[in-house]
Amino acid sequence: MKKLLIINGPNLNMLGIREPAIYGAQNYETLLSMIRTWAEELGAEVECFQSNHEGDIVDKIQAAYGAFDGIVINPAAYTHTSVAILDALKAVGIPAAEVHISDVNTREEFRKLSYAGMACEAHFIGLGFDGYKKAMEYLVSRK
Ligand code: DQA
Repeated sequence: MKKLLIINGPNLNMLGIREPAIYGAQNYETLLSMIRTWAEELGAEVECFQSNHEGDIVDKIQAAYGAFDGIVINPAAYTHTSVAILDALKAVGIPAAEVHISDVNTREEFRKLSYAGMACEAHFIGLGFDGYKKAMEYLVSRK
């Protein structure tokens, strides 16, 4: 059974409240329960982690070494700023898939650059919560 780590970055705990026109009306708890359902359907084991702190995300990625088969990551705002998260993903070498709920390519210019994305094999962008499902499917079916 594949073990997936799902990482969500800053402010994603505010889903449902934060900018619903962009991120939707469903909250983080709803996302977690969807992820658990999808994991069951896919026959995967899943752990979810959310943090508003860059270093905590780096620590979590490092701790995943040897413990997880895949990482689904939505680094949120750290996507566009964090070389540390990029380096952590490269350091552990665990297959990773990037998710963004909104379409970062059609928003402000600064959202087009993704550091973490450079260490990800697959990208699911602008698909809402479904992006997490697609990323999980990708990592489970990957050889
Ligand atoms: C986001 C997009 C980022 O630009 C933003 O900072 C977020 C969420 C998304 O899921 O669409 O916090 O990663």
